[in-house]
Amino acid sequence: MMQELIAALAAEITTAELNNAATLDAFRINYLGRKGRLADLFDQLKTVPADEKRAVGQQLNALKQQAQARFDEAQQAAEAAADNTPANPDFDYTLPPVPHALGTRHPLMLVREEMLRVFARIGFAVAEGPEIEDDWHNFTALNFPENHPARDMQDTFFVTPPAGAEPGTQPHLLRTHTSTVQVRVMETEPLPIRRVMPGRVFRNEAISARAHMMFHQVEGIFIDEGVSFADLKQTVYYFVQELFGADINIRFRPSFFPFTEPSAEIDITCLICKGAGCNICKYSGWVEIGGCGMVDPAVLENAKIDSEKYSGYAWGMGIERIAMLKYQIKDLRLFTENDMRFLRQFEAL
Ligand code: DAH
Repeated sequence: MMQELIAALAAEITTAELNNAATLDAFRINYLGRKGRLADLFDQLKTVPADEKRAVGQQLNALKQQAQARFDEAQQAAEAAADNTPANPDFDYTLPPVPHALGTRHPLMLVREEMLRVFARIGFAVAEGPEIEDDWHNFTALNFPENHPARDMQDTFFVTPPAGAEPGTQPHLLRTHTSTVQVRVMETEPLPIRRVMPGRVFRNEAISARAHMMFHQVEGIFIDEGVSFADLKQTVYYFVQELFGADINIRFRPSFFPFTEPSAEIDITCLICKGAGCNICKYSGWVEIGGCGMVDPAVLENAKIDSEKYSGYAWGMGIERIAMLKYQIKDLRLFTENDMRFLRQFEAL
């Protein structure tokens, strides 16, 4: 009885088709598995008369080995066949690898971070504002009178109001300077205020080596009781000497901005010629890096700050201007053209 079952199973095992993953799997489960046919026969061993047990046991073991051997052989053959099929016959595996290209940091972002780091050391935290602004924050609150020619100082991109905007909505525009964020922090933050405000600004200008319709500024503002021009000077001195070195001098040149009184242009020793005179500084030995001044009392009042009690200073500096001086870049357009030969020269990520 047992002998017959073993013979039948042996025949099945030798002839079973084993030519793909599915049949291999079925074979393994059916014959070799813990609940498979062979295991079944091993279970029945206990019903075999004692004098036959030994012989039947040996036959069963032999059959098990035979099944395992068939399975192993068929599996190896299947694996070898799979390996020999190229995943992509059109790909040339002998080509050298493409090197993993790491980016570099954009020079404007390097300078921006460096500037913010210096101001952070003297307590100026970062604030940001929207690039699409309203007339109030870009002009009116900053003391640009309606229809005053001062508004022409900056050629503005106006934005068409969204469909369904309330009639009489004030004009919207791409901010022409980061001074907009001064107004926003003065309107919303508790006093004293000490903020730096980096961001992009936009002006309707033809793009050339020296002008662009989009550039970056870092604005700053400090408002408290008893703030004076001496404090402003001290902050600017600290910033310039931290950024460029102790041998760099600063010059405040009287100027005009509607939102500051008095106002000044900030000049520093030309970094190229160290003051000796060259074509970058037009042989004056000085280059301009931004504007500054004491916040006009009218601007404080526009933001509902008591100008009898509080005073403050502010500045705005161009990031491109400082990056050009620092890295001796002569054409503004290089910053936005994304030419790898230019970008790769800066600090690697
Ligand atoms: N907003 C000015 C500009 O874009 C720069 C400036 C000048 C900002 C004086 C200031 C400031 O905060 O006090 O030309």
